[in-house]
Amino acid sequence: MSESADDASSTFHGEKGRVQLLGMGMDLFVAGTDTTTTMMEWITLYLASYPEAQASLRAEVESVCGGRGRAARPVDLRDRGDCPRVQSAIEESLRFSPMAVVNVPHRAQRDTHLGGYFFPKGTQVGAGRSLLMLVRGLLLQ
Ligand code: HEM
Repeated sequence: MSESADDASSTFHGEKGRVQLLGMGMDLFVAGTDTTTTMMEWITLYLASYPEAQASLRAEVESVCGGRGRAARPVDLRDRGDCPRVQSAIEESLRFSPMAVVNVPHRAQRDTHLGGYFFPKGTQVGAGRSLLMLVRGLLLQ
């Protein structure tokens, strides 16, 4: 890290680099920690509540990594494409869990018409994430 601070072409160079590093630390600890642990808790709860689904996901991982009852080799991120059921289970858990009720506030970059409403440029918009994820068809409108 100190080598990058000395390298003028590095994003970690100088005072700007220090601010960049602080921002990344904040992202990791503020945005990344509670979200990830909460999701792990929900997924563990779903797996415990639906043992048949858990067995089916385990079978898929074992079909890719070998082993029985315990994968013969560690699962790798590159295995993701070969585990569509696991991928779908993660995505469905993310959709279904009340992890973050509202999204991070955003601002309309230009005058925008959406769903019959008008948002003048500069309007702060906070989407109700839970509503979008749980009301059938809302996301596709
Ligand atoms: C399962 C884990 C996570 C979940 C469920 C999650 C969920 C979310 C949600 C719902 C948003 C709001 C998106 C929006 O308003 O458009 C968001 C934004 C953000 N997340 Fe995560 N997050 C997770 C992990 C992480 C991690 C590990 C990091 C960083 C290391 C991170 C960094 C951020 C940042 C920087 C934003 C703001 C993006 C922006 O300004 O538009 N998140 N996250």
